[in-house]
Amino acid sequence: SKPYIFITRTLPEKTIEPLLEMANVVMWEKDDEPVPRARLEEEAEKADGLLTMVSDSIDRDLLESASKLRVVSNMAVGFDNIDIEAADELGILVCNTPDILTDTTADLTFALLLSAARRLPEAAAYLAEGNWKEWAPMLLAGTDVHHKTIGIVGMGRIGSAVAKRAAGFDMNILYHNRSRNREAENITGARYAGFEELVKEADFVVCLAPLTKETKQMFTYSVFKQMKNTAFFINASRGGLVDERGLVHALQERLIAGAGLDVFAEEPVKPDHPLLSFPNVVALPHIGSASVETRHAMGELASRNIAHILKGYRPKALVNKKTV
Ligand code: GLV
Ligand code: GLV
Repeated sequence: SKPYIFITRTLPEKTIEPLLEMANVVMWEKDDEPVPRARLEEEAEKADGLLTMVSDSIDRDLLESASKLRVVSNMAVGFDNIDIEAADELGILVCNTPDILTDTTADLTFALLLSAARRLPEAAAYLAEGNWKEWAPMLLAGTDVHHKTIGIVGMGRIGSAVAKRAAGFDMNILYHNRSRNREAENITGARYAGFEELVKEADFVVCLAPLTKETKQMFTYSVFKQMKNTAFFINASRGGLVDERGLVHALQERLIAGAGLDVFAEEPVKPDHPLLSFPNVVALPHIGSASVETRHAMGELASRNIAHILKGYRPKALVNKKTV
């Protein structure tokens, strides 16, 4: 019989075509609400493959109870929502959707940086609320981006794509990464810096490193305190890299000029979260890769990853070391 695949949200039919011809596919009926845990457990027990989202916690318990499961295909480049160690032990393959979302996510990261620097949400709200009575010389004056120093923490594909955009804005580019990225240095003129040097010198500290044991909570109060008080903190990676209480204190004490956040420690972030109370914080609901084109491409790649594995090929976007 055909393999059974469960998809944890409703995706457009066109994006899952690679799977429809070879598998029995069931999707959680909603696209704006995560699948309840009980239903996910039930499905995981009978599925050969799961197509999952960043909002699903695919932990050891779930993987251990999934006796037929061969593949978890995450519709995201990040995979911190999946217990990779457990998947490895159990021989379950894990896939992600790199590359196709790189430029889209870099665009959003740069938009967030520009929005925070030039106070776009504040300015749009000012107009929408009927406050624009007169032009004034210092009305909603923000901070320049061009010719400033950007410090990119995490110089992978997305970090490099942000560096290219920064080069177009004549920015001085610093980066910090586990290892040197000579290609990015050559293409963008970025210069490698120690974490502390980057934090002290950058006018925009941009977090694009993946969430791992090593990067968890790496942005603490004392890190924000080392930043210039005219500098901005931008995060388009994962909220788990930030000690949010530390960031709130730094903002309260005006140790930094503002922040642009697409991600939070707990998502969806609650409306009364203190980070949402600052006029100089631009907050977005985790939309880094959210263009129609890219979300379609991500659904297709996540589907193709499963199809390849079920056909016995090695998928392009395998996260764990196990081979088929
Ligand atoms: C989204 O956050 C992703 O990892 O693709
Ligand atoms: C993700 O694709 C990254 O390497 O930044």
